[in-house]
Amino acid sequence: GALDLYWEIDSTSSELQRRGGSAPDLSIVMAETQTAGRGRRGRSWLSPPGLNLYISCLKRFDAGFAALSGLSLATGVIVLRALHAAGLSGARLKWPNDVLAESGKLAGILVELNGEYQGPCAAIVGIGLNLRLTSALREQAGQPICDLASLAGGTPPDRNRMAAALIASLVEGLDQFEREGFAAFADEYAEYDALRDIPLRISGATGEFEGIGAGIDERGALRVRTENGLHSIDSADVTVRRA
Ligand code: BTN
Repeated sequence: GALDLYWEIDSTSSELQRRGGSAPDLSIVMAETQTAGRGRRGRSWLSPPGLNLYISCLKRFDAGFAALSGLSLATGVIVLRALHAAGLSGARLKWPNDVLAESGKLAGILVELNGEYQGPCAAIVGIGLNLRLTSALREQAGQPICDLASLAGGTPPDRNRMAAALIASLVEGLDQFEREGFAAFADEYAEYDALRDIPLRISGATGEFEGIGAGIDERGALRVRTENGLHSIDSADVTVRRA
């Protein structure tokens, strides 16, 4: 692949979308600041310069996106591996694809799939990782957020090193996902699952119910134990909260 660095761009993921078919496998785009950073569900992702990391990677798969259901969970594990390589522990994963620390969001993951269901396709994996937050950012975020500085006890890790660790983990992890699928990530996911044994309220288009987080299944669906038995939730179009 190729690594392209921008000082300013609308969105690193949008840039890979624009390159589309011509981008080599494992192309990586990173920016100091994004003017139109995108989050899940049409939300924006605040991306000021000088503080955090904004990285996207395009990965091609021959098997089609039918086989990619666990990819966003695997990406959470990929982020944790990078943190661990940098000596940072304590982060956890909230299904489907948030990285949390101290109950605030430490990193956001946006996986976008293009191509065929059972044929050639490409995933654009975007990661926003908070290294250092300002009080203005915390106020604008609209949800509890957290940074690596507080995880590390005050001083954030060197940003270049953290970027290098994240890119190395991404390239290796996405290749591993292609070869071995989600199975290669399931044990680590379970180890860092922030929802396990936690009372949850699940809300989606079909209504709301409560249950206890019971891990994930082999495809990456969230399992929830209720009075009526075990439910598997495989749609990301639901909101999972502590009950
Ligand atoms: C979320 O809503 O939690 C996902 C946020 C993903 C943000 C990253 S920053 C790099 C890449 N470029 C974008 O525009 N979004 C992702």
